[in-house]
Amino acid sequence: MEEGDLYSTIFQRKSIRKYDLDPLDEDTLKGIRQHLQTLKPLHQDINIEFAILSPDVVNRRVQRPAPHYVAAFSEEKEGYLSNTGFTLQQMDLFFSANGLGSCWQGIPALKKEGLLTSPLKFVIVMAFGKPQETLHRTNPSQFKRKPLQEISAVKGADALLEAARLAPSARNAQEWFFTGDEDLIHAYYLTPGFFSKLLIKKYPPMDTGISLYHLKLGAEHFGKQTEIVFEEPRDNKLSKYEYVASLRMK
Ligand SMILES: Cc1cc2nc3c(=O)[nH]c(=O)nc-3n(C[C@H](O)[C@H](O)[C@H](O)COP(=O)(O)O)c2cc1C
Repeated sequence: MEEGDLYSTIFQRKSIRKYDLDPLDEDTLKGIRQHLQTLKPLHQDINIEFAILSPDVVNRRVQRPAPHYVAAFSEEKEGYLSNTGFTLQQMDLFFSANGLGSCWQGIPALKKEGLLTSPLKFVIVMAFGKPQETLHRTNPSQFKRKPLQEISAVKGADALLEAARLAPSARNAQEWFFTGDEDLIHAYYLTPGFFSKLLIKKYPPMDTGISLYHLKLGAEHFGKQTEIVFEEPRDNKLSKYEYVASLRMK
C-alpha cells in the first residue's frame, strides 16, 4: 500500500458505514499494520497504541457491521484526546487514499478480549474495510460543514483553513476554532456546556486534533514547513474555548 496523496483525499473522503464483510487479504492487512507504525502524534510524550481488531471483540451496539477495526489505546494524560484525533485521522485519510472505507466510531465498546489487547486506556475505534457504497465525494458541496467565518478568525490563510474546515467530527459538530495568522495558527474547541460535559466531553478535543491534522497537511501542500508548538496566546485569551495546540509555519 502507498502513502497516497492525503491532501487531495481531504476533498474526497467521507465516512463509510456499509462494508463488504469479507476480511481483507493478509497482504493488505500487513500494509495497514506497517502504516500504523508510521503515524505522527501531536504529543510526543503521550504513549499511544493501535491494534487491528476483528468484529468479534467489538460490541458495536447500534452500528452497522464492519470487517475490521483499528482500536486506539492511550495513556490518560492531558492532551490524550486531541492526540488520538490527530494521530488516527492519518489512518482515515490513508484508507480513503488506498480505496478502502473507514469511519470513526465513538459508539462501540470493546469486549473483554479486545480490552486485553493493550494495557493502556481504550479510547475509540475506527471501522474499516472494502466499501459497499460510493467511497469518495466528487464535489465540495457534498460536505455539510460550517462556513469558514464561523470557525476561524485567522487572517490570510483561507486556503489552508479550508482543509481544516472539511475535517470529520463526532455528530458533525465541528466545535473547533482557529485564531492567529499565516505564520502561527492556534487551535481551540468550544468548552462543552453542562449537559454535553456529561455526555460527549471526549469528542471536541478529539475532533480538533483531527482538524488540526488537516490544517497541517494544508500548510505543507502550500509549501510551508510546519511545526506543532504549544504556545497558548496569553494576551488575547478566548473565553468559552479550550486551547489545544498551535501550528507554526515557515
Ligand atoms: C470522533 C468521532 C466519532 C464518531 N462516531 C461516530 C459513530 O459512533 N457512528 C457513526 O456512524 N459515525 C461516527 N462519526 C462520523 C461522523 O458522524 C462524520 O464524520 C460526520 O458526520 C461528517 O461526515 P463525513 O465523515 O462523511 O464527512 C464519528 C466521527 C468522529 C470524528
